[in-house]
Amino acid sequence: MNNQQYTKVWDPFIRFFHWTLVIAFVLAYFTEDDFMTLHTWAGYTVLGLLVARIVWGLIGSRHARFSDFVFSPSTIIAYLKDTLYLRAKRYLGHNPAGGAMVLLMILSLLITSLSGLVVYAVEDGAGPLANWVTQVGHDEAEIFEEVHEFFANLSVLLVLLHIAGVLVESMVHRENLVRTMINGKKRLSNDKITKE
Ligand code: HEM
Repeated sequence: MNNQQYTKVWDPFIRFFHWTLVIAFVLAYFTEDDFMTLHTWAGYTVLGLLVARIVWGLIGSRHARFSDFVFSPSTIIAYLKDTLYLRAKRYLGHNPAGGAMVLLMILSLLITSLSGLVVYAVEDGAGPLANWVTQVGHDEAEIFEEVHEFFANLSVLLVLLHIAGVLVESMVHRENLVRTMINGKKRLSNDKITKE
């Protein structure tokens, strides 16, 4: 009999945000040159989701708030060291390293989608910035294109590290964190730690 107690950790918005972001990001990444309409709409979706997530990070539910998962660099380093020795503490919300990764992913995806808007305006004269960037020269346009590509690839790297972190954390604490991001629930236990 399973008499474990569970508590709600990820609210419905966070779960919707997460899985829609995964789909939109994958679509945007793989439609780069060949399917521009799909690429642009996937990019708009990523940007819209990020803006909504940033607002939710200020006013949302407890574990969705930035104040719940922004930790000092020394706490993040100590957490990573503890993870190496397989003795990292369990957190109900994002752990210190996971929280830092969330911030890095949000920032990298934000730069990717915003620079994409500029490239779209310069090269195709389209999108919301089309009327603003008519003055951009060829060299500057190339810089934005490189920024766009660099941060898209950096985002992929961060996502791979993120997935590795989720798997390691799931093993260390013997829980299925992927399922948690689907049903929003996490096991309550005596060793639970929540940031006060
Ligand atoms: C299919 C592969 C993926 C899996 C299995 C996965 C799983 C997870 C899990 C379990 C969490 C919660 C971590 C925790 O307990 O602290 C999480 C959070 C997060 N993931 Fe993923 N993830 C995947 C792909 C992605 C991708 C592709 C992105 C970005 C494009 C992404 C961005 C995020 C973000 C931003 C959060 C923080 C959620 C929030 O607080 O709003 N993930 N992910």
